[in-house]
Amino acid sequence: MTFSLWTFGLLMISLTGAHELNHFPENFEVAKRDEEYTLTCNSKPDDIVTWKLNGDPLEDDENVKQNGTKLTVLDIDTPSLGNYSCWRGEKMLSSTYLLLKVDEEDTVDSLINCRAKSYDCNFNCTWTGNGYTAVRLGLGHYCSKSSKSCQWISGSRQLAEGKLQFEMYHDLSPYAEESTMLEVTAEAISDFSIFRTSKRFYLRDIVQPDSPQIVKCQLVNEDVNVTIDPPSTWSAPYSFFSLEHEIEYVLRDDGQTERSSSTLIPKKISKLRVRSRDSLVLANWSQWTPWKNVKTGTDRLCRCKNTEKYCCPELSLEVFNGCKKEKRKHKKHAKYPQ
Ligand SMILES: *[C@@H]1O[C@H](CO)[C@@H](O)[C@H](O)[C@H]1NC(C)=O
Ligand SMILES: *[C@@H]1O[C@H](CO)[C@@H](O)[C@H](O)[C@H]1NC(C)=O
Ligand SMILES: *[C@@H]1O[C@H](CO)[C@@H](O)[C@H](O)[C@H]1NC(C)=O
Ligand SMILES: *[C@@H]1O[C@H](CO)[C@@H](O)[C@H](O)[C@H]1NC(C)=O
Ligand SMILES: *[C@@H]1O[C@H](CO)[C@@H](O)[C@H](O)[C@H]1NC(C)=O
Repeated sequence: MTFSLWTFGLLMISLTGAHELNHFPENFEVAKRDEEYTLTCNSKPDDIVTWKLNGDPLEDDENVKQNGTKLTVLDIDTPSLGNYSCWRGEKMLSSTYLLLKVDEEDTVDSLINCRAKSYDCNFNCTWTGNGYTAVRLGLGHYCSKSSKSCQWISGSRQLAEGKLQFEMYHDLSPYAEESTMLEVTAEAISDFSIFRTSKRFYLRDIVQPDSPQIVKCQLVNEDVNVTIDPPSTWSAPYSFFSLEHEIEYVLRDDGQTERSSSTLIPKKISKLRVRSRDSLVLANWSQWTPWKNVKTGTDRLCRCKNTEKYCCPELSLEVFNGCKKEKRKHKKHAKYPQ
């Protein structure tokens, strides 16, 4: 009993394994369902050849007809898909996979999601389609025409939830006005079916910076001046690739949340966070930074000890008010944790 279950298991593994392509075969051809498709053998014209499908010899029947070295599959359907090889005696002359073309679905657009952190030459795409055993992405018209010159990129990391990630490279100049759309083509195999889709977009439309950095806060009269640095992954020079920032803060008195596009915000706040976006094309906002708590000296939470390197090290961010005196005294140590 145990033995037969074991054999059965092995048999299932080898059966399903044989019918699964976990990489793109070097040669494959794509046919449409219910149509006929003719395969050519890499032979001399007067060679006498035989054909095999998935290793099994093929004979003329109601679905395949051989004429000379050519083999015509008359009615493309699941059983007629797979690895076709042609032979002269014991010598294999060529082999190719016959795959079924899967029609595009409406959900296609959401299968490929691309995002760039800057205008530099790379961006990432994720593939979210389920149930595919091999997926590849390519950039440019060679790939959308599935020409041999396309440089396909294999899915790298398997992200959570079975998503695949692809690192893409483009050669658009970051300084030129962007007039060319990027075209990403994806090919995905499931059983012996192949699904192909393309997506076109401007780089500027997928740019979403990383979160910026809050560098410091300074009291300016009754306000706080927040200094924000661009994320380290953003394109340089910053003077050219300008970012705009937005600050969100919670007022201490009434707990109201407000937003400001100016770096000057009221000082009586309990916490703040910031985000950025390209200020020219108004692309997507970055993620917010984590909230930073703000304490002012007036509530005596901000105690400064002479022996400490930082003023109020237990706080993630300080607004110096009550601590002003100590700050002046310890100028050398006026370095605040971020
Ligand atoms: C296709 O089948 C032939 C003959 O069985 C085999 O030699 C060849 O390696 C197969 N091709 C692939 C890509 O597995
Ligand atoms: C076989 O192919 C030749 C030329 O390639 C063609 O002239 C002939 O009609 C074909 N025969 C059949 C039975 O299809
Ligand atoms: C692409 O993803 C990799 C790995 O997650 C990451 O290191 C890299 O910064 C990403 N690049 C872009 C442009 O998003
Ligand atoms: C706020 O700080 C920045 C640099 O940290 C400075 O350039 C700017 O003048 C300051 N604004 C005010 C109103 O003090
Ligand atoms: C912003 O990003 C979302 C996905 O995160 C995308 O659907 C949307 O098109 C983007 N909008 C812009 C203006 O880039």
